Amino acid sequence: MNADNLTWHHGDVTADHRAQALGQRGATLWFTGLSGSGKSTVAVALEQALHQRGQHAYRLDGDNVRLGLCANLSFSPEDRDENIRRIGEVAKLFADAGLICLCSFVSPYRDARQRVRDTHQEADPPLPFFEVYIDVPVEVAEARDPKGLYQKAREGKIADFTGVSAPFEAPQQPELRLPTHERTLDQSVQQLLKMLEDAGVIPAGG
Ligand code: ADX
Repeated sequence: MNADNLTWHHGDVTADHRAQALGQRGATLWFTGLSGSGKSTVAVALEQALHQRGQHAYRLDGDNVRLGLCANLSFSPEDRDENIRRIGEVAKLFADAGLICLCSFVSPYRDARQRVRDTHQEADPPLPFFEVYIDVPVEVAEARDPKGLYQKAREGKIADFTGVSAPFEAPQQPELRLPTHERTLDQSVQQLLKMLEDAGVIPAGG
């Protein structure tokens, strides 16, 4: 991309102004893990819990985004990188707008996730970014197989399927690791709320 002759145009309403108006700081939670690991389930439950506390969250989800914004992308490594780049940019804008953006994407490549983190870090001011590793063994995700995709992948009907015929590069230093097969959904949600409270994204004890 050629960024010559382009300058970011700042407004007068700052992140602090927005935080004050909304009663929260904008932030991105990035859920990464295998298909069927529970990313979307956790994000939906967290969104509901935040809503009940009067906080403002919005979910971006793999299948949904691939039906629209990223409808032209495949599951090749290059297209997955472009998928994550686009979503990372959208999440950054949502977080900058003051929302708690909940992103559920397989996002199997470490470098691509790091670039999304960098994008948030380089924002002015930097935006809080939390990588949440939904850490479930492929055997567990495959046993759940909510969409029947593992079976299709094993039958050779889906190419480059993460965990079967394409790699998943596990996060090395996620802000939080959630083995959803070893705890209840409510325990996961409570842990995420505490993480957001501790980071000053939402008020304590809502
Ligand atoms: S990512 O790798 O680019 O981050 P993304 O999260 O957008 O993937 O989409 C993953 C979803 O697409 C999965 O939950 C599954 O429903 C579906 N899917 C279809 N084909 C594949 C594939 N080859 N690998 C992984 N997921 C796939």
